[in-house]
Amino acid sequence: FNLARVNTLASPVNAKAYVAVQNMTELVEAIKYASEHDWPILPLGGGSNIVLTNDFPGLVIHLKLQGVQLEAESEQAAWVRVQAGENWHDFVVHSLLMGWYGLENLSLIPGSAGAAPIQNIGAYGVELESVFEELTALDIGSCLPVTFTRESCGFGYRDSVFKHRLRDRYIITSVLLKLSKLPRLTLQYPALRDRVESLPAEQVTPERVSALVCSIRSEKLPDPDDIPNVGSFFKNPVVGSEQFAQLQRQWSDIVGYPQPNGRIKLAAAWLIDRAGLKGMVMGAVAVHDKQALVLTNPGRAVASEIIALATKVQNTVLEQFGVKLEIEPRVY
Ligand code: EPU
Repeated sequence: FNLARVNTLASPVNAKAYVAVQNMTELVEAIKYASEHDWPILPLGGGSNIVLTNDFPGLVIHLKLQGVQLEAESEQAAWVRVQAGENWHDFVVHSLLMGWYGLENLSLIPGSAGAAPIQNIGAYGVELESVFEELTALDIGSCLPVTFTRESCGFGYRDSVFKHRLRDRYIITSVLLKLSKLPRLTLQYPALRDRVESLPAEQVTPERVSALVCSIRSEKLPDPDDIPNVGSFFKNPVVGSEQFAQLQRQWSDIVGYPQPNGRIKLAAAWLIDRAGLKGMVMGAVAVHDKQALVLTNPGRAVASEIIALATKVQNTVLEQFGVKLEIEPRVY
């Protein structure tokens, strides 16, 4: 089965087998089928954060579980459960229509709701963990459902236990969020703040913030349907204050955001840009010309070419700035 159409990098690798599952019964059947054949499993959501460098010698399980449900509410809050296969942005739009707020800054992030906790999706000053209550997952070994609280997910910046310790052990089936019935806007992220400042106060609503986030994103980030990509390819690296001061002496306009722990998060896009790599083309793949943190695959090559480009970017940035860039999406 060719996977080109189910990963947003359009990597044309093959899997031994593929199945789309609509409900829990189908999911359990699929897992059992794979284990009977001794095949590894690759759970797939929107395919917008994975880099498929090789053919997959097992079963790809495409999660299509649908549904959004209000589980409980108080005067101020709504506990909303979203099934793993729902499209993330459609869910954000639906929440706004229902008057459930808190997701507006996360508008237009590609992918599915079930994948959102794996990398603790974040944008414009908000991360999923700030609204996260719990998730349900299926243990691939036993096929039994398990609940994970916020604590047991081990969230960090673009990070959770599902990327490390528990990688490939669970399939997330639904996510429960605590949303607010009263608008509570997060507007401090520079690109967003600039646009909000020009508006009269009464126009600064969650719906408007969502629209602004959509327009900022579409100006910089390529639509994967036109130019295959997986969003930011590297995490923004965090350095100590001394190293930052040193870098600042050499590069006075370096972009850095102080973290609560006193360390500084650098803009990887700035480093790549300043290293002269923005817009660079290497065979079928490229560094995006509007956002240097995004690698693109316009030639629809196998993603091993993207990894070769990523290695070149990492080496150049390390040589020039002494900073190591870590790949953000999952590489298979
Ligand atoms: N910049 C450059 N050159 C560029 C692009 C940006 O110098 O080509 C500079 C900008 O001037 C800005 C800074 O880099 O000062 C940061 O750029 P931007 O605001 O575009 O954000 P980012 O740090 O590159 C992160 C996330 C994005 C998220 C945005 C907005 C990571 C790895 N990426 O990007 O997330 O949308 O902030 O919050 O944290 C993703 O994870 O796939 C993703 C797109």
